Amino acid sequence: MTKDTKNPPIDRVDGRLKVTGGANYFADFEIPNTAYCVIVGSKIAKGTIASLDTKKAQNAPGVLGVFTHQNMPPIPGWDAPVGGEADGPAPKPKTEETYRILSSSKILFDGQPIAIVVADTYERATYAASLVKATYSKQTARTDLQKHVAEGIAPKGADGGNYLRGKPDAYQAAPVTLEANYTIPIEVHNPMELHGILAHWTGPNTLMIYAKTQGVNATQQAMAEAFKIAPKNIHVHAEFMGGGFGMGLRTWPQETAVVAIARKIGRPLKLVVNRSQMFTLVGHRPYTVQTINMGADQDGKLIGIAHAATAETASYEDFTEATVNMTKFMYACPNVSTRYRIVRLDRSVPIWMRGPGEATGAFALESAMDEMAHKLKLDPIEFRLRNYTETDPEHNRPYSSKNLKEAYQRGAEAIGWSKRKNEPGSTREGDWLIGYGMSTGTFNAFRWEASARVLLKADGSLTVQSAVTDIGPGTGTALTMIAHNVLNVPLNRIKVEYGDTSLPKAPTQGGSAIVSAVGSAVFDACTSIKQALIELATKNGGPLVGRQADELTLADGILSILTEPKKKVAVSDLMQANNLAVIDRTKESKGGPQLQNYSMYSFSVHFVQVRVNPLTGVVRVTKAVSVADSGRIVSPKTAASQMIGGVAGGIGMALTEEAVIDHRFGRFVNNNLADYHVAVHADVPAIETIMIDKPDPIINPMGAKGMGEIALIGFAGAVANAVFNATGQRIRDLPITPDKVM
Ligand code: MOS
Repeated sequence: MTKDTKNPPIDRVDGRLKVTGGANYFADFEIPNTAYCVIVGSKIAKGTIASLDTKKAQNAPGVLGVFTHQNMPPIPGWDAPVGGEADGPAPKPKTEETYRILSSSKILFDGQPIAIVVADTYERATYAASLVKATYSKQTARTDLQKHVAEGIAPKGADGGNYLRGKPDAYQAAPVTLEANYTIPIEVHNPMELHGILAHWTGPNTLMIYAKTQGVNATQQAMAEAFKIAPKNIHVHAEFMGGGFGMGLRTWPQETAVVAIARKIGRPLKLVVNRSQMFTLVGHRPYTVQTINMGADQDGKLIGIAHAATAETASYEDFTEATVNMTKFMYACPNVSTRYRIVRLDRSVPIWMRGPGEATGAFALESAMDEMAHKLKLDPIEFRLRNYTETDPEHNRPYSSKNLKEAYQRGAEAIGWSKRKNEPGSTREGDWLIGYGMSTGTFNAFRWEASARVLLKADGSLTVQSAVTDIGPGTGTALTMIAHNVLNVPLNRIKVEYGDTSLPKAPTQGGSAIVSAVGSAVFDACTSIKQALIELATKNGGPLVGRQADELTLADGILSILTEPKKKVAVSDLMQANNLAVIDRTKESKGGPQLQNYSMYSFSVHFVQVRVNPLTGVVRVTKAVSVADSGRIVSPKTAASQMIGGVAGGIGMALTEEAVIDHRFGRFVNNNLADYHVAVHADVPAIETIMIDKPDPIINPMGAKGMGEIALIGFAGAVANAVFNATGQRIRDLPITPDKVM
């Protein structure tokens, strides 16, 4: 069914709403009688609250309540995990600590909520929050991973297992060897829109929630478990999100607390956290240290790789991610071992962030590949090609599709790779050293279970419905294109409704999986509608009786026989003749067992040109080309935008993003957007995106693989490799700040 023609680039279907203020984000919703919450955070990172004085706050104007561990209303599902995982693996194993918001005087991390103040306005709640006074009995907080790397434990569950192919130490005996350590700092998602929730008990056991969540069904499920009410009695709305990057992949404890307090005081409650709370209450990319050992022969064939990673987690929950996974399957190498460890620190729990662990791991692996190529005096692309693999060496099975060689070639042409000199520090323009670097990225191409409903009305309009939230990549636009490609309804007659639990169930938006998952359900529902139309036309008494389905074409509301232009029927006439006001199909979709025979990944290649000023250490990314090998591109314009967004995030990761802790106090010193610098326009050059755009024949009927994560994965390595090419300085600790370059 997949058309092998290029899809046209169309504008975002929700673009006008977004730029005219017509799109409502959770905090834009207003419910009469709403009260406002402000969270007071702990000023220590470990210990206990010795005393808590809330009297002044309680007596402040407009205050409706001050909730602490002494008077927090019960949460019926308190003993069940508060905040179910949005997707991915099974619930985390419990550690010896338990964190339940406002349930005890124990402090487990800096910024941990010690009180929630409720008042009739946000300003009054903020003022009253400033009057809450606590004293603490402090203990020494362990917050510095570098000091505690040796305490790493192997996590339980899927990410924790050690992996070995061949011999673990084969790299040692190789003619050319490399050992290098890489560091990723704490990074914070920092979407422009702040986190929070608007909770309204519409009845004793019915709840309306507007939330900043990447998955309305996941929030619904988490609240159902916490309050022991049926999911169908909980309505969650999150149509638009002002950026997520992973921080909305779970329901956070303060959301649950707000819902409990709203029930207690009998008013709708709104929480919007402040920017510094974005650093402590909604997760982060964990500080991670990695070691790569690599060995190759003189011809540039890899003999062995060992990749070890150790990341921080909280004392109260084991967060894990797929940091070392890329090393297992990326290159043809007979001996590969990986090891992943976590260290429980006195910190709030991390969560997946922008290309999550794979982005962390790719920085190490792809930097090491560049270092090894240099030792071998090989061009970095040539070194990768000598170790290219057409089948997945980890699982011994084919990739569902892989066009990475073409991606290397097209990206190299676009950046002007031929101008790169293999000898570092050999290109100078005025005061600036010029360098080129590249890196590969890869991420699983998932196909999760999802459902969608499609309604074709007799007036020719089409409505597509799914509960999925659009966190920004243009999901509504992609689903519009998928429906258009099956039913050929004009684009301006297609409407997509999403981001609400009243619509057919969908997975949380994350993991680059949504076009594949929800798109497949939309495709199936549209295909079923098309079949219904063909049956109506060709049945006994139908206008095209006796014709075969494959003779018919459907376009612009007309079913016709291609070879006989006069034989045709308008869809509206056909539906009216059959007394049908609407054809309505709901489809559930998931990948079949045949998918198990393939390794399904998207791939990317990032190329950058940097200028480095050797006097000041300033690094500027002056050119970037990112190539996506992610199957058929269903919506070229939003896909390109997504790649551009990934590059902007990648520039931040490479050059500026770092949340710094003063370990004497276990607290952040740059928890604001002035001191934690997210890449802005001035940091980002014009970015060229290239789509290989070849359908994957296995994953789904559109042939589309995901591209959100691969837009970022690998990018920081490309920058580090370019800085080396420019200067001869190998920076293994992100971000690449001027002090490290000079
Ligand atoms: Mo993404 S880190 O799956 O939101």
